[in-house]
Amino acid sequence: MKKFYVTTPIYYVNAEPHIGSSYTTIVGDIISRYKRMRGYDVFYLTGTDEHGQKILQAAKAKNIDPQELCNELSGKFKTLWEELQITNDYFVRTTDEQHMKTVQFFVEKMLENGDIYKGKYEGWYCVPCETYWTNEEIEEKDGKKICPSCGREVNWVEEENYFFRLSKYNEPLKKHFKENPDFVEPEFRKNEMLKILESGLKDLSITRTTFNWGVPMPNDPKHVIYVWVDALINYVSALGYPENKELFEKYWPADLHLIGKEINRFHSLIWPAMLMSVGLPLPKKVFAHGWLTVNGQKISKSLGNAIDPRVLVKAYGNDVIRYYLMRDIVFGKDGDFSEDNLITRYNSDLVNDLSNLVHRTLSMVNKYFDSKIPEPSEKAEVDNQLHDLINSTIEKYENYMDKYLFTHALESLWELVRFTNKYIDLTEPWLLGKDESKKMRLATVMYNLMDSIRIIGLLISPIMPDTAIKIFEKLSIEEPEKYINNENIKIGLLQSGKKVNIGDPIFKRIDVKKWEKVIVMKKEEGKMEEKKVEAKKEEIMENVLIDIDYFKNVDLRVAKILEAEKVKKSKKLIKLQLDLGELGKRQIVAGIANYYEPENLIGKRIIIVANLKPAKLMGIESNGMLLAAKINDKLVLLTTDGDIEPGAKIS
Ligand code: ME8
Ligand code: MG
Repeated sequence: MKKFYVTTPIYYVNAEPHIGSSYTTIVGDIISRYKRMRGYDVFYLTGTDEHGQKILQAAKAKNIDPQELCNELSGKFKTLWEELQITNDYFVRTTDEQHMKTVQFFVEKMLENGDIYKGKYEGWYCVPCETYWTNEEIEEKDGKKICPSCGREVNWVEEENYFFRLSKYNEPLKKHFKENPDFVEPEFRKNEMLKILESGLKDLSITRTTFNWGVPMPNDPKHVIYVWVDALINYVSALGYPENKELFEKYWPADLHLIGKEINRFHSLIWPAMLMSVGLPLPKKVFAHGWLTVNGQKISKSLGNAIDPRVLVKAYGNDVIRYYLMRDIVFGKDGDFSEDNLITRYNSDLVNDLSNLVHRTLSMVNKYFDSKIPEPSEKAEVDNQLHDLINSTIEKYENYMDKYLFTHALESLWELVRFTNKYIDLTEPWLLGKDESKKMRLATVMYNLMDSIRIIGLLISPIMPDTAIKIFEKLSIEEPEKYINNENIKIGLLQSGKKVNIGDPIFKRIDVKKWEKVIVMKKEEGKMEEKKVEAKKEEIMENVLIDIDYFKNVDLRVAKILEAEKVKKSKKLIKLQLDLGELGKRQIVAGIANYYEPENLIGKRIIIVANLKPAKLMGIESNGMLLAAKINDKLVLLTTDGDIEPGAKIS
């Protein structure tokens, strides 16, 4: 079995996870799910980076023990990934004993190989980036020395340190880049690395002595190992290196390190040099993606404007966020998370194109074939057009997904979604349905539509796992989770004879006029700031979980039917006079004449919504709505289990 080992950066636990860290983790999850579907044995790794000055300072600011801070924050990352349905195979922490042992083993090997020496470090240090900078690299602003990467103030450091002979690997790295032109992507990020190699790597200080929150240097425990050296080793410690040979040899080298662009140097130069030093194979690829802004603003933990991904997921759903991120932000480039654009995409791509296709199709299957998936028989030329497009879409989609071109993959997939909708217009099932002699043709049309929807479901499954499952459930596919498998991505595998489950549409339109957005931009002290609000989405989107207070707004009451008569000129409506006890008498009109004779209704105790806005039905006023249960062609009124006074409140 082919294997695939993919990693995210391990995130610093100095602050809570936000949409930026979620972005990389979601991408890793999409790649993992895609590879699993394609038959790979996947190991997906994420975790937390818990040592160093930055974490120590964060703990001091909170006046707690650093380990306590790490446990708390690491737990938050873990929980968030569970909530986002991230399918990581392991979660590594740099304060895990096993990781720390591996770090010492690794550094010991570097020592043995003569790649570490003692020296004196004099230069700048950026704590937020945990990065050393030289005088030449540093920038100045308002008379202050600032970090060229994050723009924050740097500190002067003079210490006796151990150094790693990074310069020794300058030429071997150049050679590696030359022989492996796809080692770093995107191309423009690779070129940045080549430039650094051109100017020549300097040896790297890899220990500190002024604090002790880290892994002790094996030969000299007064020193702690530089947090970046410690952190990078997570990619092998998580596989149990060096003890667990089986796991390590199965998955190493990594197939893909996913990272943000600001930490490219560490992953594409320093980490490979460390691996060369101990004689381990290099990862196959480092992909450095761009940075997200939110509504045009930089995400910043220190500004406290990092959007909580949970708020977004609560409002829009996991799949919608994943779809939007992959569809609108070109992977590799910087991009903006815009809530307006998200809503636009949602209404057009997910509601209009995808959800409507599924709902329209299944409604017709219900109408013409009593919900049963028919056998295809009579073919027509337009079917070939659909089938050719399905086949070419599968090919394009895989090609794009293999190159991590998610936007392209979704664009080509949506060509198929739109053409499948168009296939309905071209085949005009509503005309076929009127003519008994066209039944065979209609069967083929319905089959082809559902088969196309099934394939669309498979192809979107890495990006929208819940939606895929919903589609499979609607098509009565057994064990939908297991169904996500390369073998099923083929035309004609939909099983006939089963009954489809129409249910509700997968996505429902957002009314932009009523919709309360979750990211509120506020102008304060000349600065834009994001504020999070929890909007009541239930009012606009149906089928979401509601809380008890929302339910309590509905005034349900027991009512006794005093009089009942058919509404003249209407086949369906019955006019009822009700006794509501303390609320008095009232009249409602209900569409139940096909199911009940008026005389049989008198005396029944029914349940009504008592605070519904009055309405007129065929010119007759109705002040409420009765509750009934309906399935297929059957309807029964809800009543009470035993006698109770009219007007009794239901809660
Ligand atoms: O750098 N847009 O951890 P970190 C896109 N511990 N991605 C973003 C982002 C944004 N605005 N903000 C963060 C560290 N990310 C080290 C890594 S690895 C051995 C050690 C993502 O908490 C992106 O993947 O600062 C970025 O590289 C990572 O979070 C940085 O997380
Ligand atoms: Mg960072």
